[in-house]
Amino acid sequence: MNRLDLHSHLLFGVDHGVQTRELYRALLLEYRKHGIDTLVLTPHIFHPTVKTRVENIRENFRLASEDAAKVGIRTILGAELYLGSQTEVRTIPIAGRYALVEFPVSAKPIGLDRKLQQLLDQGLEPIIAHVERYPWLRPQGETFQMLKDMGAWIQVNVSGIENKSAMPYIQRDLVDIIADDNHGDRSLPGKLRACLDAFPQICARMESLNL
Ligand SMILES: [Fe+2]
Repeated sequence: MNRLDLHSHLLFGVDHGVQTRELYRALLLEYRKHGIDTLVLTPHIFHPTVKTRVENIRENFRLASEDAAKVGIRTILGAELYLGSQTEVRTIPIAGRYALVEFPVSAKPIGLDRKLQQLLDQGLEPIIAHVERYPWLRPQGETFQMLKDMGAWIQVNVSGIENKSAMPYIQRDLVDIIADDNHGDRSLPGKLRACLDAFPQICARMESLNL
């Protein structure tokens, strides 16, 4: 079984996550130690407050993949797309197929359904990042049902399991993916592994992503 981290800011020197190749390499060893063999690198794009050095993405991904291969880890490039006020929705799809998206915390974005439809029209399947973070979204609410009806995958963070904010979604069996959203924390690979082991039904859904 592949063990996967689907949402991370490990791609060094690109956003406000990991800054150095040295820390990235140290983190690779932690993931390997905990049996996580596939890392999806998802730097922020179109975020209103996080500056992304997009010009570094391709070259740093090449270097990151080389480093990972040396320790038996596979890397996949993607992005965490902020869906805010833009009219044209573009992203770096994960494996050409999935669009990891985040939203403003303060309020539901205007035209959310149209923005997600743009991704569907591009042949992409949306993955809703850290669904537990949004006070305007509730597991039994209309907006969440709209996301499910669109076929969106639902992701929670390890931190959301730790602080229990993800539990209303997990207890209703609405979660497809657990990820660590790692910005450079050496303890998160071990915590991610523990969460994956604790929720085998979610692991089975992650397997069905076929990454
Ligand atoms: Fe993130």
